[in-house]
Amino acid sequence: MAEFVVAIDGPAASGKGTLARLIAAHYGLRHLDTGLTYRAVAKALLDAGQPLDDEAAAEQAARSLDLSAMDRGVLADHAIGEAASKVAVMPAARRALVDRQREFAAHGTGAVLDGRDIGTVVLPGAPVKLYVTASAKVRAARRYHEILARGGTADEAEILADILKRDERDSTRADSPMKPAEDAHLLDTSEMDIETAFRAARAIIDKTLADRKET
Ligand code: C5P
Repeated sequence: MAEFVVAIDGPAASGKGTLARLIAAHYGLRHLDTGLTYRAVAKALLDAGQPLDDEAAAEQAARSLDLSAMDRGVLADHAIGEAASKVAVMPAARRALVDRQREFAAHGTGAVLDGRDIGTVVLPGAPVKLYVTASAKVRAARRYHEILARGGTADEAEILADILKRDERDSTRADSPMKPAEDAHLLDTSEMDIETAFRAARAIIDKTLADRKET
């Protein structure tokens, strides 16, 4: 693992992705949104007409995935997120993606990875771990307004139902369930705008870096 790694976990629409991007830009670190890796595998299966529970096909797609060619615009689709959380219950697919994610974190001087299991499974030795949450209602409202801002239409109640379903699937799966690492800093952004959340995250990271310099 590179020297300066920030592991960020949390549920869908908690703000972790935006925070991860801001942190990476601020500290000059490379960034990997690991949700995109699960989404890309799900899309590969959908495109090939394969069922989402075909573990061998998912593992194969994960091993041959080109991390640099993942297109956020295409993969951000709501239905692909749903499909990704089905792919994400399969241990062989997870193992293959975790290998790729660790490889990404091993190079260069540092990296930010965000997902569900970064602090617990992918990089348990990361010096800084954040677990970003917000109430399901706030997260659904954020997603809803994001979709409207992009000119789309959506039903907020349906988004909330999907978010609750995805939380349940992600936190109850047997392999690498979503949960905070014991040494993660919890950041509840329910009452925070992104600027406030970013300031709070920077304070945690700067303190960790300063403590490390002292020892
Ligand atoms: O974060 P995002 O919504 O893009 O993730 C899509 C799905 O991928 C999640 O609901 C989860 O099931 C899965 N995932 C995971 N582990 C990660 C990142 C994402 O299981 N580290």
